[in-house]
Amino acid sequence: MMKSTLRTALLCLLVTLAAGSSCSRPEAEIYHIVTTVCEDAASAVTVNYHCSLPDSYVLVTQADDTTFRHAEKIKPVSRIWSTVGIDNTATESTFYTKERYVCYATISGLEADTRYRYKIVAGKTRTDARQFKTAGKKEPWNFVVFTDFQHRENPVTLPLVEMMKEIASPDLVICSGDQIDVAGNEYEWSFLLDNDIFRDFVYAASPGDHAYWASDKTPDGHYPQYDKPYTFVNLFHLPDNGAPDSKGSSYYFYYNDILFVALDMNNSNLSSGSRFDAQAAWFSETLDHLAGTYRYLVVFMHKSVFGSDLIDAAVARNIRPQWASLFRQYGVDLVLSGHDHIYSRTLAMDGDQVTEDPAAGTFYLDMGSSGDKRRPLDESLTGNPRYAKVMDLKELDQSCACNIEVDETCLKVTVYNQHRQVVDGFTIPRKERPAASESREGFLFVHMTDPQIGFRDVSPGYGQTDTLMQKAAAVAASPCSRAG
Ligand SMILES: [Fe+2]
Repeated sequence: MMKSTLRTALLCLLVTLAAGSSCSRPEAEIYHIVTTVCEDAASAVTVNYHCSLPDSYVLVTQADDTTFRHAEKIKPVSRIWSTVGIDNTATESTFYTKERYVCYATISGLEADTRYRYKIVAGKTRTDARQFKTAGKKEPWNFVVFTDFQHRENPVTLPLVEMMKEIASPDLVICSGDQIDVAGNEYEWSFLLDNDIFRDFVYAASPGDHAYWASDKTPDGHYPQYDKPYTFVNLFHLPDNGAPDSKGSSYYFYYNDILFVALDMNNSNLSSGSRFDAQAAWFSETLDHLAGTYRYLVVFMHKSVFGSDLIDAAVARNIRPQWASLFRQYGVDLVLSGHDHIYSRTLAMDGDQVTEDPAAGTFYLDMGSSGDKRRPLDESLTGNPRYAKVMDLKELDQSCACNIEVDETCLKVTVYNQHRQVVDGFTIPRKERPAASESREGFLFVHMTDPQIGFRDVSPGYGQTDTLMQKAAAVAASPCSRAG
């Protein structure tokens, strides 16, 4: 009798607890989910999302653990946010009216070249599973680049992203700015981020001038500008290693044997000034510091050093002297940009001059548009011998994206339009680069498993030994083959 009473009481207690906990947990809204790069893409990623509840977490496991049996629970950094109180904010946008928890969970200690799956949990709600893959694939490898998605609900962007996923299966996707038209309108970001296409890759972006556009148009038809890209930095937690005045919107990261540098080219009215000077100083210091740790150097930035000649000469006049000279000095291989909504690609440039030696030059690719905003081309401006190819995307009714294949000899760029046609292509030979200096010993955090393959971080910790330094120096100094 006693036993039976006890059993019944325990059962009642369990039922009550179960019912209570289930009833007390509310449904959550979890949205704007995106996986972004960390400084070392072989060992870490960041999962970004917005959530209606304060307590949420990420469950992450290897991709083949489909039931999440071995998942780890990662608590995000989470803080409540809206655009209330931000200068020139859009008062009718949900960014203003709906407070939410901005969350980012950096998942570190990951294995290189490994696919993972994750889901986000808050209250009763669990998202579906998403995937990402860490860097570390032995060459050849590839990544995909877009620019200027721009308008919400344009009919091109999402099919173009889907098409490039089918063609190139990228683990890394980059966008050189203007992912939206008016950054202060949340529905524009929802169009880009909250769908079944824009997912399952690691993402890196630089802000375009439209990342500075607030809303609430003024009576004279102008959009006020934010003084910082507030919505961009609250959607994407990118590496915190950028210029002091542009943290989170300028940064660098290693992905396999490429060092990527993202620049923040600021708002529509600005193309020179102290923020540009601060980024130029940071760029120099950073690349001096990182010398010898990468095989290729790729910059992505919104405004175009050369392409802007075709539509906005003031931009070219302001940004070219500073940046073309720095890109020459540090041997940048490729500069990816947009902004002009016209396609242009230069020959190899040595500063602002064409060079006969492609392995010594910098290639500039302004893809113009990965959406449906295109500008007409003034043919009278296309005669400049710097251009290898110019396209009037408006006339051609074309939008562009590219796949970039990387091996130990070159970067091979293939540009597609939205109809899956190849519309341009070129090859960037690998440069000879200086070896890491002794003064940098202990700083290197990438190293190789095989000096013939490239820089890989597969160690439990960051490489700090003479052996690693010697290996890095050996690869950096090895002769490169000259592809055509
Ligand atoms: Fe744009």
